[in-house]
Amino acid sequence: MTFPVANQETGSKAELYAQLQSQLRSLLAGERDFIANAANLASLLYHSLPDLNWAGFYLTKGDELVLGPFQGKPACVRIAMGKGVCGTAAEQRQTILVANVHDFPGHIACDSASNSEIVVPLIMGTRLIGVLDLDSPSFGRFDDEDAKGLNELAQIFLDLVNLEAR
Ligand code: SME
Repeated sequence: MTFPVANQETGSKAELYAQLQSQLRSLLAGERDFIANAANLASLLYHSLPDLNWAGFYLTKGDELVLGPFQGKPACVRIAMGKGVCGTAAEQRQTILVANVHDFPGHIACDSASNSEIVVPLIMGTRLIGVLDLDSPSFGRFDDEDAKGLNELAQIFLDLVNLEAR
């Protein structure tokens, strides 16, 4: 099976996220395995959104976050709640946009190429499943449209996966 990724050369950011929504629904159709679907979402984002050097998941295990499916260079495995951008987004249960990671107190540098970052918490009911993390080599790469688009994609993902299948 081949799967086309959204064309990043044309159209607005809103159009790109709209395309990604329909691609994600097709990609996940008929499959509820958590790891498989998370891996495909990480790949879809990494290969469709321009100017990224890392896209993937950290998943809640006990009182910390543990590296999940991702695309990019190998990354740190465990992040304590409240630490780094990921742990802060997880603890606050809020999307965090960081225009310059070097200015973020406690930022955890996994790839020295990263200069900006966005982290979206994944919440199912009252349960924090983990976070979706995207890094870019450009400063100020992510804005409110990315936050909206990524939160909508995260919600589609959460609606379509079976949490017990991981
Ligand atoms: N920068 C993150 C760590 C994860 S990597 O970016 C993949 C943080 O500060 O939590």
